[in-house]
This record gives sequence, C-alpha cells and structure tokens, in this order.
Amino acid sequence: MSMQSIPFFRFVFIILSILLSIQYSDTLSSTFDDEVTETFIVHASKLEKPSVFLSHHDWYTSTLQSFPANLSPSDPRESIIYTYKNAFHGFAARLTPSQASHLHLQPGFLAILPQEIHQLHTTHTPHFLGLNDNSGLWPNSEYADDVIIGVLDTGIWPESRSFNDTSITNPVPKRWKGICESGPDFASTSCNKKVIGARVYYKGIEEKLRRKLNETKDSKSPRDTHGHGTHTSSTAAGSVVKNAGLFEYGVGEAKGMATKARIASYKICWNEGGCAAADILAAIDQAVEDGVDIISLSVGSRRPRPYDQHSTAIGAFGAMMKGVLVIASAGNSGLSGHFTVANSAPWIFTIGASTIDREFPCNVILGDGRVVNGVSLYSGKPLEEPNIDLVYASSIGSIFCKEGELNSTAAARKIVLCDGGGGIGIAEKGNAVKMAGGVGVIIANSLAHGEELSADAHLIPGTTVTFRSGVEILRYIVTQKKPTASFDFKGTIIGSSPSAPKIAAFSSRGPNPITPEILKPDVIAPGVNILAAWTGAVGPTDLEVDKRRVEFNIISGTSMSCPHVSGLAAMLRKAYPNWSPAAIKSALMTTSYNLDNAGKIFTDLSTGRDSTPFQHGAGHVDPNKALNPGLVYDIQPSDYEAFLCSIGYNQTQLSLFIHDKIVDCRSHTLVTGPGDLNYPSFSVVFKPPNSVVKHKRVVTNVGKPGDATYRVMVKSPLSAEISVSPSVLTFTMSNQSLSYEITFTSLSNPEKNSSIPKTEFGSIEWTDSVHVVRSPIALLWLPSL
Ligand SMILES: *[C@@H]1O[C@H](CO)[C@@H](O)[C@H](O)[C@H]1NC(C)=O
Ligand SMILES: *[C@@H]1O[C@H](CO)[C@@H](O)[C@H](O)[C@H]1NC(C)=O
Ligand SMILES: *[C@@H]1O[C@H](CO)[C@@H](O)[C@H](O)[C@H]1NC(C)=O
Ligand SMILES: *[C@@H]1O[C@H](CO)[C@@H](O)[C@H](O)[C@H]1NC(C)=O
Ligand SMILES: *[C@@H]1O[C@H](CO)[C@@H](O)[C@H](O)[C@H]1NC(C)=O
Ligand SMILES: *[C@@H]1O[C@H](CO)[C@@H](O)[C@H](O)[C@H]1NC(C)=O
Repeated sequence: MSMQSIPFFRFVFIILSILLSIQYSDTLSSTFDDEVTETFIVHASKLEKPSVFLSHHDWYTSTLQSFPANLSPSDPRESIIYTYKNAFHGFAARLTPSQASHLHLQPGFLAILPQEIHQLHTTHTPHFLGLNDNSGLWPNSEYADDVIIGVLDTGIWPESRSFNDTSITNPVPKRWKGICESGPDFASTSCNKKVIGARVYYKGIEEKLRRKLNETKDSKSPRDTHGHGTHTSSTAAGSVVKNAGLFEYGVGEAKGMATKARIASYKICWNEGGCAAADILAAIDQAVEDGVDIISLSVGSRRPRPYDQHSTAIGAFGAMMKGVLVIASAGNSGLSGHFTVANSAPWIFTIGASTIDREFPCNVILGDGRVVNGVSLYSGKPLEEPNIDLVYASSIGSIFCKEGELNSTAAARKIVLCDGGGGIGIAEKGNAVKMAGGVGVIIANSLAHGEELSADAHLIPGTTVTFRSGVEILRYIVTQKKPTASFDFKGTIIGSSPSAPKIAAFSSRGPNPITPEILKPDVIAPGVNILAAWTGAVGPTDLEVDKRRVEFNIISGTSMSCPHVSGLAAMLRKAYPNWSPAAIKSALMTTSYNLDNAGKIFTDLSTGRDSTPFQHGAGHVDPNKALNPGLVYDIQPSDYEAFLCSIGYNQTQLSLFIHDKIVDCRSHTLVTGPGDLNYPSFSVVFKPPNSVVKHKRVVTNVGKPGDATYRVMVKSPLSAEISVSPSVLTFTMSNQSLSYEITFTSLSNPEKNSSIPKTEFGSIEWTDSVHVVRSPIALLWLPSL
C-alpha cells in the first residue's frame, strides 16, 4: 500500500518502512526461538475438511484444541481472530511459532504465513481525463449508478459533501448484503445511498501492536481520522460538489470518477501501526460476500512477495474468481529504482502515478533577479517585504531542518533552504523553521525526487523546488555576501506547460519482481497533487500543530491514482455487465495513450528521461476510448490456474488459490510459460541460450455486430525481430474470438558482465477503421551467468 500525501505521507511512508525493515524482514525461522505469540494467517484446504466437523470454523478450533498440552493455545477459540470463507479459506490466529509449525503438520493446513504489515500508498482530473456529460463513458454508464466499489482504506468521513446522496435516485441495490457498523463517533445512520456500507477491522493490528489501539489516535469505528480513505473514496465515487478547493487552490467543482457509484468503506489502516494483512484479508473476504463489484486497494507491502506468500494476492484471486475486479496501487517505492512494483499478480489491476496539467506554482526570486520555479499550497499572509535574507540549513545546524536543531539566532527573520528527505515531512520542515524564528522556507528535492514537484500546504510562506534548482539556489547562497530571496505565489495554473502527464518519481517500477513475464504496472493515472475530500479530524498537513480543518485536500501518491481507475472500472462494469474483470482491465489497457499533451513520449520525473513500459505500463488511461475498445484480451479463471501451473506451483501452493478442485498441471498449463497468459501486454524474457520466444493470444470482438477486419502493425526494437501470424483477423460476429501467434527473436547477446538486464521496447497494434488495440512490448535480456 502506498499512501503518500504531500508532506505527511511521504514522511509516514518512510517511517513505516524503517519500522518494517526492522520488524518484518525476518521470516518464520528466525523467530522460532522466542515463544511470544504473533498473528499467523492460516490457509486451509476447503476440500480436506473432515466430514465430522459441521463447519470449517469447527474444524479449525478443534484442531487447535487437539494440540498436545505443551503446545496447546491457552484458549483456542479466543486465539482465532478471523475466519475466512469467501475469497479464500482459512483463519488468522494468535499462535506461537511452534504452534504454527505444529499446525502446519496437520492435514489440510496448507500454508501458514506470519502477518505482514502494509502501508497506505484529486478536482480537475475528470476534465483532464476527458470525461464529460455529453458523450463517452459518463453518459453511457449512467455514472456507474448501482455499481458498488469497496474501498479498503482508513475509513470514511461520511459528512463530507462528496458523500451527499441527493443526486442518487435509485435505492441501495437489493443485492447489497453489507452493513453500516456503528462505533464511537459513527452512527449506523451515517450511511446513505452513496456510502452504503461501512465496516471496521482492527484485530490484526492490535495483535501486531500487542495492545489495544489508542483511541485518542484512532477511532475504532469506520470514521476516518486520517484523511486518506476519505480522499480515495471521494476520488473513486464522490458526488458533485460546487465550490470545492483547498484554501484558494484548485477551486471549482469537485467530483469523483463515478459520481453515482456506491461506496462501501472497509477500514483496515490505522494511524498507529499501518494496515495488517489479517485485517486486509478479512475485509476482502467480507466485501466479496457483501456484494461489491470492484475493490479499490491503495495499500501495499513495501517488499514484493511471491503470490503464494502474499495474502493480498491470495485474497484478490478469490475475489477475481467471484467476478470482482481488484484494483491496487503500484506503490511509492519508485525512488528505489527497478523491480519495485507491488501488487503485481496478473489478476490484480496495478496502477502507477502520473501528473496532470494543473500546477500550483510558487517561484523563488533570488536577490540577483533570477527566478527559480517551485510549487506550494501555502495559504495565508505573504512575506512582509521582498528580499529577505536567505540561509542554507546545513550551515545553521540541521541540513534536513529537524525541529529543535536549527540555530534560532541564525534562522531568525530569514528564509531557510532545507534539503528534502531525512525522514522529515515537507510541512514539518517548514514548521521547524518557524519554531526557530525563520519567516520562510524553501525545500529542495532530494536527488531521488529529482524534478518532481509535489505541493504542500505549508504553515509559513514556503515552496518546494527541484533537485537541480536546489543546487542553483545553494550556489547562489555560497557565492553571495548577502543572499536574499522573495516568493511569488501564482495560485492555480492549468495549461500545457509543463507538459503532462509525466511519470511521478515515486511511482514504483517494473520489471515485475515476481513474474518478469507479466508487464507491471498495468497503466498510469493521475496521482500528483490530487484534490479530493478530507477528514475533519486533522489538518491538511496532518501535523498536530496544524489546527486548520479543510473539506478538501491536495495530496500525491499511487494511492491517489488507484481510485481514479477504480471509478473508471465501475463505469465499464455498468456499461458491460457481462464483461469479466479481465475484459474491463484489457479495455482500459489497450486504449490507453502514450504521448503527452505536447505530443512527446512521457517524461520519467525521477530521471528526466523518456519513460518506458516499466514505468507507465500500457500507458495513461483514456476512459472514453475504453468504452469502445474493439477487441479485448479476456482471461478466465481457468487461465489463471494454468498460469499458476506455469510458474511451477505444486499442489500445496495451488490449493491456496483454487479451493474446489484439484488441478492437474500436466494437462493444464501455459505452453510457452507464464508469458503465454492472455495478457493485454507483453514482457518478453530472453534467458540465454534461448533466443526465440513464442506466445499465443486470443482477442475477442466486442465491437458493433457485423464484420470487422483488423490488421496488425508491429514496432520492433533494434535488437529483436517481432513477427505476428496471421497478420489480418477477420471477425464475422460480435463476441467472436480469434487467435494469433507472436514470435520474438533476439538479435543480440546479453552483456556478459552486466548486473542490470538489457531492456528494449516495442508495441503491437491491431487496427480496423475505428479502433486501435495497442499492447506494449518490453523485452528483457537476463544476463548470462
Ligand atoms: C446535499 O445536497 C443538497 C442539494 O445540494 C442539499 O440541499 C442538502 O442539504 C445536502 N445534504 C447534506 C447532508 O449536506
Ligand atoms: C494515547 O495517546 C495520547 C495522545 O498521544 C496520549 O496522551 C496517551 O497517553 C495515550 N494513551 C495510552 C494509553 O497510551
Ligand atoms: C548561532 O548563530 C549565531 C549567529 O550566527 C552564532 O553567533 C552562534 O555561535 C551560533 N550558535 C551555535 C551554537 O552555533
Ligand atoms: C511446494 O512448494 C513449497 C514452496 O516451494 C514447498 O515449501 C513445499 O514443500 C512444496 N510442497 C510439496 C508437497 O512439494
Ligand atoms: C461470449 O461468448 C462466450 C463464450 O464464447 C459466452 O460465455 C458469453 O456469454 C458471450 N457473451 C456475450 C455477451 O454474448
Ligand atoms: C563490461 O562490459 C562493458 C561494456 O558494457 C565493457 O566496457 C567492460 O570492459 C566490461 N568489463 C569487464 C570486466 O569485462
């Protein structure tokens, strides 16, 4: 999960990841010698329940009760915290490592995983995405009326104007089986025709913390005291709100993507401790039973995990089997480079983040007249006079502007230039300068954040500049006797300069660390400086000293891009009730676009170079085109089963995903490996000495009835030849499927001594006179050993 807001989430994410690396980097084996209990997620084989037990739950408790005395849990019934029965089968329980390993020896208990902790990963975007009331996806999907989006997050602030249901005329859909769970400060009457359900999950996180949640920090109710869940929910399905904005920024009409879709809120993430796997799974399991159509999960673990050890992947598989599309953020680990993409299972729709054509510029004017571009959401009194003395934080005590470490004699009445990073949030740095008597702050991006500009709601006049601009300002400071600066706040600017979209530096990247033959992320969507609804519990910076309360907030992260796509998928679900989750995903992928609004290849903000499918997947979503994709690459549950066989899963691993039958991989696999899955994109891996890779694909005609003839156009890279057979597909009916074979031949040898795989890129497009069905191709030469 990646939740990143402006200052605060960047900070939280870092802190959580440090915690994680300390506490969760060890697996079972290293914890065997201490016998404290921890939470384990136990996957059971549905088919192996002995018939003497009436229910699976009885089987689980009886098994725990039958343990030898020295291993027996003190109260077996109490130790089970959740029983799972929809998305998959099993339970979460408090066990010692020895109890867990003893349980693993009992027949029918397939896998026992220690609970992992995940982290959390808005409105001009409808306009940027081309949504409009007169044509395209909005009117053709009735704004996703009656489609139910399950948002698994920090809960919801139901009083927000974004959740006003007056524009929804239909009653709550009859198939809805969920509830509106009451709790402290959340009445069961808080739900309405927009927010139709709300539930809360904390047993897993309390086990992790080994104590109850501190209720002054977290409300044990569906109420969002953090902001993230309210933001993501309103991005996916917020109602139309006039006069929205954060202070004077981004003012206008705010609305979600699917303005009439229904929201079911599942609170799984907590200010204290993050989001626990046992809670996430319980929520997925319940959401499927409650009747959601889409699950939106802006949450992920920082370290990519094999699918059979990743509870979210297992839960999402179960949801997919029941026709529910799971959409998840790619993660905010892009600064760590390649192979960082999270939530990368092929049955999950994985979303990266990019910029939109709206900025909040606040430029720095140096004493010599030079103008340096920056961004800010500061609202309040401007600096009293121009040309204020400027000082570098490093020379007055704390390069990262840590509170209490800046020399207040030296900072007084000055503007301080702080380095970004150091585990301190942007607004927090500004507050440190304020506490030290400074009057203004300039934050220079770290090298890793590079040229990306995320705006922050500073508490004092302040702005954020790129890494390169930071170096320029520093050079100015060290070469002047009396360096000075002023700020020029420009408010909200919408336009084509700088060009958009650009790939956010933080957006996690491919290749897919688990299965390099499946390209990830799948697509990009708006995730930088997004305006959406906010909680009434904390201010826009999430700092305790920030007593401001705002209805809307502007934050950034793949957490923000995910719910954009969840809303779009909800509308496709409404427009095409018979489509599978894979067909919806295919439509959004093959119609996505690949050039920015200046007609150029997208820029990757972490490097300043052209981005590749490893950063942007198939491209940027284009909702109106997705309404009419022409062809889709469909995938049935049995194809995913074959995929699991193709990656070498044995019976035990398979039964984590497939509960009702035994799969025989000898007759049920993908002929040429995992890349043979009918995926709408290609990631071809050349492993020496293999220089030819062949895949089959099946495309289904979802266009208007009547003949359709599609011709192929292939863009090959320098070092490989790509051929497609046949090169013309003639459909005579709608819903007809035809197949083709695609052959990739390497013309190059991998570099023998390189530790980084060589990569090149191409694409394949099927076009008739109306549609362009495009799939990106990434080619990866693994170094020979
Ligand atoms: C919802 O919106 C309607 C129409 O704008 C307004 O009359 C009503 O007061 C709003 N309801 C709430 C609870 O704010
Ligand atoms: C809960 O948090 C509050 C606010 O941080 C703190 O003052 C209080 O001591 C905490 N309570 C417990 C039981 O830890
Ligand atoms: C703080 O800054 C003042 C003025 O620049 C300087 O005289 C003083 O020595 C500094 N104090 C410390 C502890 O560095
Ligand atoms: C299946 O594979 C897992 C992971 O590689 C392994 O731990 C387990 O022992 C295997 N089970 C069987 C029955 O081969
Ligand atoms: C399309 O064909 C498949 C089988 O080939 C069938 O299961 C499905 O219902 C058809 N869909 C429509 C919309 O006709
Ligand atoms: C490694 O490959 C590079 C070319 O990519 C070459 O310049 C270099 O000399 C090689 N180094 C070794 C140790 O072979």
